[in-house]
Amino acid sequence: MEAHKQLTIGLFGFGVVGEGLYKVLQQTPSLKASIRRVCVKNPEKPRNAPSELFTTDRDLLLNDPEINVIVEVINETEAAREIVTRALRNGKDVVSASKKMLAENFPELLRLQAETGRSLLYEASACASIPVIRNLEEYYDNDLLHGIRGIVNGSTNFILTRMFEDRLDFRSALLLAQQLGFAESDPALDVEGWDATNKWSLLLAHAYGIVEHPSRIIRGGIDRIALGDAVVAKEKGMSIKLVAQAQKLDNGRVAAFVLPQFVRQDDHLSFVRNEYNGVVIESGFADKQFFYGKGAGSFPTASAVLSDIAALRYQYRYEYKKKYHHEALALTDDFHLRVYVSMDNGTPLPKQHFEALEEWHSDADRKYIVGILPFRSLRASDWWRRDGISLILMPDPMVESMELMRLKKLSLELAGVS
Ligand code: HSE
Repeated sequence: MEAHKQLTIGLFGFGVVGEGLYKVLQQTPSLKASIRRVCVKNPEKPRNAPSELFTTDRDLLLNDPEINVIVEVINETEAAREIVTRALRNGKDVVSASKKMLAENFPELLRLQAETGRSLLYEASACASIPVIRNLEEYYDNDLLHGIRGIVNGSTNFILTRMFEDRLDFRSALLLAQQLGFAESDPALDVEGWDATNKWSLLLAHAYGIVEHPSRIIRGGIDRIALGDAVVAKEKGMSIKLVAQAQKLDNGRVAAFVLPQFVRQDDHLSFVRNEYNGVVIESGFADKQFFYGKGAGSFPTASAVLSDIAALRYQYRYEYKKKYHHEALALTDDFHLRVYVSMDNGTPLPKQHFEALEEWHSDADRKYIVGILPFRSLRASDWWRRDGISLILMPDPMVESMELMRLKKLSLELAGVS
C-alpha cells in the first residue's frame, strides 16, 4: 500500500469555501498537499492569491497528469457533475462539497467510483465541520442505529435564531446569512428546505444504505412559519427548528423527512443556535450521542475538505457498508405523525386529513389544530403547502399504532370542531 502519498491538487472554485481552503492549506504544511492550479469562472475578479495559479480552462486541471486530486467547490450543479465525472474517469481522486449535485446524481456517482476504483469524498457536503458522514459510515452498524435527527442547514438555523432571539425580521436575517457566506446563492434552496433534504439523502446512504433521490423525501422549509407560530412556541416553552429526521420502524423500514419542528428546551437540538448544526444519533446500546459544530461558513467547510484531502493520503474510500455489506433498508410512508397546523382564519380547518385531533384554538388572526396525520397524506396532497398554512411537527412526532388507536377514541368527542 502506497503510504502518505504527495497530493497535488487541482481546485475548482475560489469562492467562500475555495478561498478558505487555500488559506487553510497554507497553514497546514505538514499535510504535503499543494494546490497546483485553480479553475475559476470569472478571471477578472481580484483574488487573494498569485494570479498565475488561476485559469478558466478546465482541461488544464483535468488533463494534468501531475494533479492527482481534484477538489470541487463550485456552485453550478451541472458543471460540478461534469468535473467530478471527468476527474474520476481520468483516474483522479475527488473531494466535493456540492451536496445538490451529489444527492441528485448519487447512483451514477456510486457506479463511477466502483468502475474507476477512485475515491470520491464529500464530508463538507453535510454539516460542514461535523464529521458525520465518516462516523455514520465507519462507526455505526445498521442494526444498532435506531434513528438520527439533526439540524443540517446553517442558514435557516441562523435565520430562526435571529428572528426568535433578536426579533430580526426574516429578510434582514436572511441578508445577514448571505453576507456572512452561509446562504446558498439561491436562498430558496435554504429556506424551502431543499439544501437540508439534499444533505439528508446523502446521510441516509451512509446511515442505512438508502439511496433515494432527494425529491422522494418529504420536505418543508421555514418560509411559511408565521409570527403566531413563534408565539405558540414561546407559550409552550419551545423553539422552532428545521429538523431532518430518520427513524427505523418496527417493520424494519425507515421513516425519513425534513420538516420544521417544535423543539423542547431539554432537547439537544434546542442548544443548536445560529449557523451551528447538530445531529443526535440514537443507537442500540449507547442511547443518545450528540454531534455539534459549525454547519456553514468558509473555514468550517474548508476544514472538512481538508480532512478529506488528508484521508486521501492513505487512500481512504467510502465503502458504502450499509448498502453493499448489509441488507440495505428502504424508506416507508407507513407511519403517523403528530403535527401542528396553523392557518389564516379564512382557511377552513383541514380536519379531513387527520385521524385524531388533540387540540384546537383560534385568535383574531389565526387558528391552529394539533392532531395525528398519516404520513402518506403529506405525499398524496399539497393542502399543507398552500398559502397561509403552516405545518410544524410536534416534539417526538412519530406515533406508534397502539397510541394511535387510543388517540382515535379520545378524539371522537372533538369531531364537531369546525
Ligand atoms: N447554505 C448551506 C447552509 C451552506 O446554510 O447550511 C452549508 O452547506
